[in-house]
Amino acid sequence: MKRRKILKLSSGGLVALPACSSQKGEKGSKVGKHGASSSEYGDQPVRLGANTQYRPPAYVNKGLRNPNMNLPTQFTGESVTHSRGLSNQPYVAMTFDDGPHPQNTPRLLDILRTRNIKATFYVIGSNVDRYPHIVRRIVAEGHEIGNHTYTHRKLTTLSNSELRREMRRTEDAIVRAAAVKPRTMRPPYGALFERQRSLVFSDFTYPTIMWSVDPNDWKRPGPSVVRSRILRGAHNGAIILAHDLHAPTIDAMPGTFDDLLSKGYQFITVSQLLALKGQA
Ligand code: NI
Repeated sequence: MKRRKILKLSSGGLVALPACSSQKGEKGSKVGKHGASSSEYGDQPVRLGANTQYRPPAYVNKGLRNPNMNLPTQFTGESVTHSRGLSNQPYVAMTFDDGPHPQNTPRLLDILRTRNIKATFYVIGSNVDRYPHIVRRIVAEGHEIGNHTYTHRKLTTLSNSELRREMRRTEDAIVRAAAVKPRTMRPPYGALFERQRSLVFSDFTYPTIMWSVDPNDWKRPGPSVVRSRILRGAHNGAIILAHDLHAPTIDAMPGTFDDLLSKGYQFITVSQLLALKGQA
């Protein structure tokens, strides 16, 4: 019996080799097939918005946790500009501009994931082209992507065709990287004339998203100041501005998120905020 078992094991080991290599071959051909059909995302359906159904694994859930927010993400409406959501529910939208950044954005994504928080990233198109894998991760983990132009110029100095080009190039880069279309835009420096907002809204269907809480984190006042400014400014329906470009901002986020969660705020994406607003 014992001898037989050993024999079986050793023969199993021998048999395992061709089995393993054939499995590898199968996997390889699968990847090849997939790669060929989706190399340009040409025949891939492009989704609107992010995979908001993504749930982080339970084992990372050790502290405060945002509840699962099963809210609609489709919005309609005539408003060209939004700087906040409804004030009758404790929802806030955290927004991060100017990324993706190769170190800071992944670190932020880890912080968000452990708390089940979904945020909105206003990405710069040129950074999307440099770090498309980070954009894919942002989308895969249920966050939303917004358009923050390709070159981060002051849009009020541009012609209409230059403005359209900034929007188009960035949208194309996001679709190439992650096969999702951005739904909203945020102008660099918050600078966009009313007539330009209307143009972007009619040509791209993007509402212009401003903010209601600004910790001025880009001036690098230090993580504890960023945290206390956000906590002090937070309100129902807040759209909170921050930048995942700056390491001290990321340092401030664990405490900021936990402060807001313990105050009873719940985090949703900008599209969810707008969808709720549209229903009201
Ligand atoms: Ni910016």
